[in-house]
Amino acid sequence: MTALLWQKPGVSVDAEIQTFLAGDDVLLDRELMRYDIRASKSQAQSLQELGILTDHELADIDAALTDLDAAFVAGEFILDARYEDMHSAIESYLTERLGDTGRKIHTGRSRNDQVLVASRLWLRDRLQQTARIAIEIAEVALRRAESEAMQPIAGFTHLQRAMVSSLGMWWGAWAEGFIDNTQRALDTLQWINSNPLGSASGYGVNVRFDRDAASERLGFNRTQLIATYAQLSRGKFELAALDALGASVLDLRRLAWDLSLFASHEYGYVKLPAQYTTGSSLMPNKRNPDVIELMRASYAAVAAARVEIEQTVSLPSGYHRDLQFTKGSISHGFGRGLGALALVPDLLRNLEWNGERMVEVLDDGLYATDVAMEMAAAGTPFRDAYKAAADPSTWSGRTPEASLSARVSPGGAGNLQLETLQARLDNLAEQLARLD
Ligand code: ARG
Repeated sequence: MTALLWQKPGVSVDAEIQTFLAGDDVLLDRELMRYDIRASKSQAQSLQELGILTDHELADIDAALTDLDAAFVAGEFILDARYEDMHSAIESYLTERLGDTGRKIHTGRSRNDQVLVASRLWLRDRLQQTARIAIEIAEVALRRAESEAMQPIAGFTHLQRAMVSSLGMWWGAWAEGFIDNTQRALDTLQWINSNPLGSASGYGVNVRFDRDAASERLGFNRTQLIATYAQLSRGKFELAALDALGASVLDLRRLAWDLSLFASHEYGYVKLPAQYTTGSSLMPNKRNPDVIELMRASYAAVAAARVEIEQTVSLPSGYHRDLQFTKGSISHGFGRGLGALALVPDLLRNLEWNGERMVEVLDDGLYATDVAMEMAAAGTPFRDAYKAAADPSTWSGRTPEASLSARVSPGGAGNLQLETLQARLDNLAEQLARLD
């Protein structure tokens, strides 16, 4: 390992203890490294504004950081156990290349605000990605809700057939859900979009950094003002981001459940695209919906990440090394969650329904509620109509199409008002475009 930034003469470093302290941290920092480099550039600029770095020194640091970023992306600079963490790696790179100029970069900052700003920028990108995928899923669902609006499908409660439903309502439900999820991701993005850089260890420093200018450079919409709050927000903002991701993955879990049931022989409603299924190692006749099942399981990682962070931040105010473990949680939670979501738009685009089968399984009992409602609308007290419509002889002579067209309550099959969803979607798409 290169010399530790904080090494004191005469105190030797125990390898096992060092691995415990920094073991997988340097690997997790690989995800954050480019954000740390970006924030380091801003920090150098702040130091130049204060006259702590000359124009020339700033230019040298800036160029060196650009090179480091390129070398990191190209795999020529490898962040590994030679360094305690990415912060040490960046500083030692600058020092090796620029000598005393590099040794000035850490003026007025702490690894505490450095890791905060890097993970804040990382979270911001992940939320933007969440919103982008969620809106794409909503878009696909909305298109299919329009084109397959009147295809009948049984509506279930308690897994028992309940009423005739439509693909318009089934697709429309996912469309509206993922519109909500897009909004949630964008709102959370705005909520966490504040700059902790310049809060140093959590207690400020005795120079007048222009923190607002740094916030603007890094694309934050506000400065996280009180230095001590910046540290309190570590973990708290991670939880908010995981909640926003979780909204999408939770819906995905239920969508995957539907599809795994619908794709079974017993239902026979839908054919999954071949790439989303796998064969069995033993049973030659099998095509299994493994991809859908892993999508369903992905929520566990998001939930686990939430719990782990919640437990970790059971701390008094101020920085504590415990907080380091929040990085593993968000990496795992977002890795699993976004990995699953990214495959959903194409899956949905390529689902093939077996319309005949879906109609074949409808039985007349599914019209009972329609019959009761018709009688009630014509003046029979609902309780009497309910009793009369329990008699199977009242259910005959009906078609699913007529049942669906008559379902005119707003949001029902005969009155979906998908244009309302389209307007919300367009509005969110505009908000997303403004982020570029
Ligand atoms: N790896 C550390 C973390 O993620 C960086 C901050 C270290 N700060 C400290 N005071 N030891 O929290």
